[in-house]
Formats: sequence, C-alpha cells, structure tokens
Amino acid sequence: MDHFVINGTVTLEGEVVTSGAKNSSVAILPAALMADTPVTVENLPHIDDIFTLIELIQYLGAEVKTNGSRSITIYPEKVHSWKAPYELVSKLRASYYFLGSLLTRFKRAVIPLPGGCPLGPRPIDQHIKGFQALGARVDIQHGFIQIEAEQLTGTQIYLDVVSVGATVNLMLAAVTARGKTVLENVAKEPEIVDIANFLNAMGADIVGAGTDEIKICGVKKLQGTAHMVIPDRIEAGTFIMAAASTNGNVLVKEVIPKHLESVTAKLKELGVDLEVGEDWIHVKGCSCPQPINIKTFPYPGLPTDLQALFMPIMTRARGTSVITENVFEGRFKHVDELKRMGANIRVDGRSAIVEGGCGLTGAPVKATDLRAGAALIIAGLLAEGETAVSGIEHIDRGYEKIEEKFNRIGAGIKRVRQE
Ligand code: UD1
Repeated sequence: MDHFVINGTVTLEGEVVTSGAKNSSVAILPAALMADTPVTVENLPHIDDIFTLIELIQYLGAEVKTNGSRSITIYPEKVHSWKAPYELVSKLRASYYFLGSLLTRFKRAVIPLPGGCPLGPRPIDQHIKGFQALGARVDIQHGFIQIEAEQLTGTQIYLDVVSVGATVNLMLAAVTARGKTVLENVAKEPEIVDIANFLNAMGADIVGAGTDEIKICGVKKLQGTAHMVIPDRIEAGTFIMAAASTNGNVLVKEVIPKHLESVTAKLKELGVDLEVGEDWIHVKGCSCPQPINIKTFPYPGLPTDLQALFMPIMTRARGTSVITENVFEGRFKHVDELKRMGANIRVDGRSAIVEGGCGLTGAPVKATDLRAGAALIIAGLLAEGETAVSGIEHIDRGYEKIEEKFNRIGAGIKRVRQE
C-alpha cells in the first residue's frame, strides 16, 4: 500500500483552489440514472469515490463520456440493471444512494450494505423507515438490501435522527412518487441544497431544501440537465485548518464562506488572523493559538468531518481544549495515532481533552478514515522530523491529489508507491 512521507516543521504559504464537493457529487451521479436523457455534471472532484461511482454506473449500463478534466456526460438511457456488485459498493458509503435512484428508475433495487469510513455504528434505519413509509417493501438478507415498490406514494416522514444520507435518499425516492411527500427533521447541509437544485433542474418539484422541512410534489418523469457541483467546504476547511495550524499564510479560493461560518468563528476564537471575501478565505497565521472548546453538530453546526482537523492546532495551544463529538460515536480513532506523535489527548466518552503546549514529533502513523488521514497530514507538517502516514487509500477516496495541492503551498509531501 502507498504511504505519505512528510518532513516537518513546515509553514504553508500560497494559494489553493477548492475542488467540487464530494458529498454532492456522490449523490448526483446515482441520481443522474433517474433521467431519461443525458446529464452533464461539471466541477466533479478527481477522487477515488467518484472513479468508483463512474465504474458502478457503467456496470449498471450507463455510458459515460469525459468532456474535460472535471466534466462528464452520463447517458442513462441504457441502464439495464438494478443490482449493484459488492466489490464496488463496499468501497464507499454513498453507494446507498442507488437504493433511492434505482427504486425510482426500476421500481426495485438490490444493493449490498454500503462501505465507507469506520466511524462507529452507521445504521441506515432512517432510510429504510422512509422507503417503507413511501410504500416500498424492504428486505435485508445475506448482506444485501432488496427494495421494491410498484408505486411509491407521497406521505409525511419525520426522521428520528438528522441524517444527510436519509434526507437525500428519500428525496431521490419521492421525486416521482404519487402525490406530495413532506420530509421533516431533515438535514440542512449545503450539499442537500445542491442535490435538490440538481433534481429540480431535471424536472423535480422540491422546495425547502436547506431548512428542516422539505416538500416534494411527485412528477411523472425526469429529464437530463447540466449541473455545476458546489465547492467542497470540507476540503476548503482542511486547507484552512492546515494553514492556521502551521502559522501559514494561505489564500483558499473558490469557497462559499457562508458554508464555513462555524469554522471561521472557531478559528477567530483560536486567535487565527483571517480575511473573508466573496469566494475566498485568506488565513494569515496564528502564532499563539488559544485553547478552545468545539462541539460537532449537523449543519449549520461545526461539521463532524472537520473535528479531527482541529486537534493538531490544539496541541500547540497554551492550555486545555475539549472536542465533543455529537454526530458519530466512534470518531476518535485518530487520537491514538496523534498520541504516537507526542500529543497529550484523553478520550472520555464523546469528548477528547487535548492538552496543549506539547511539540509533536514525527512517527509512523495510520489513517483510519478519510478525515483522520487529513488530520495526520497536518500533524506531520507540524511535527519535528519525519512522519510516515499509511492507510492513505482512505484519503484518496475523498481528497483530490492532496499531496500535490499541499506541495504547491510548500509542504514537501512524498507519496511512496508500494508494489
Ligand atoms: C454524511 C456524509 C459524511 C458526514 C455525515 C455527517 C456523505 C456521503 N457523507 O454521512 O461525510 O460525516 O453525513 O455530516 O454525504 N444515522 C442513524 N440512522 C440512519 C442514518 C444515520 O442513526 O438511518 C445516524 C448516524 O449513525 C450518525 C448520524 O445519524 O450518528 C448522522 O449520520 P448521517 O448524516 O446519515 O451520515 P451519512 O449520510 O452517512
């Protein structure tokens, strides 16, 4: 397996351009199969999750044409299969979106239980509850989910847990259901708005995306469209955290600053010097970070996906910081790895207590999930000496050419390829 070698201590300087949002793109590709004419998707990120999804939609029968480095056209007319193979589905969490999209297209779907980052238990009971409320029969056997419905019928569905995946999947299933569906207590992430805009451009009738209630009037059919994916706020947040952590001077371009308000607010508390423009955020350093407390919540709260990335800078703060993880139960696996680098962190239930003031030192460490991997890269940039990060297949799933982007701002990260 490949690994990254990082030599610290580094101060990042320069400009980074944000790629398209992973969490929008991974829903938009399965959703494109619901159209009856071609769909063009622009600003797709070059990440392994997207490459896997393209393979998956081709396996199902779609033709895919590449228009340029970030744009593809999907020809959904020839899709003939409603069964997705384990080898591809197990590579990513978002493969569960084929449940909603193939159910709409074929009135049935057979999907292996999805893969993705190991963040503790990740049930999909809310997706299933919603599909059943719309009139689908759902059966789980031998690791496969089978779902079918002659006719989905709109209804009122209240999510017991605010879930991004369930919100999107139920939008996909409800767009052509008979009558009106009202989804309540739904997630409000910007990616959900992006996906709803895409579906509306295909002819769907969805209102309220971005609020906690989404209303969907079923339409007869969906047609092709062209859509530009929004910028990836988590990727942008990663470079912002890296710049702040290394006391760097980095301009992060092509961001929607509103999507990162919870992050920039906390960075100001940390003492980071920031300037925010219309579509850019300029991090101008942080020589003496203050200890802070953060709590993750669904959007507009601080994203769980950026929680791990706050840890490296907290090890530099003068005092104790506390991170409370409210979204995923098992999302502190990076703590043991950071401790190998000299961090003083204690996990107590859903909180991690980070004692500042201890310098990190390079060590061999392992990325246990996508964002934990990015946190280890930032820690490697801060640490004295050499850090070798293994498990980088997790990082490649969701970050576009991460070492190249970091190296353009002075990181000097080497990818060591292993046969
Ligand atoms: C999505 C994102 C992921 C992000 C997460 C939370 C994608 C592809 N992934 O993941 O990057 O970290 O949102 O912002 O968009 N839950 C249930 N039952 C369900 C569904 C979820 O109990 O049926 C729970 C989960 O275990 C978790 C919480 O709800 O505790 C939020 O999960 P959810 O928003 O569904 O996360 P994902 O959609 O998997």
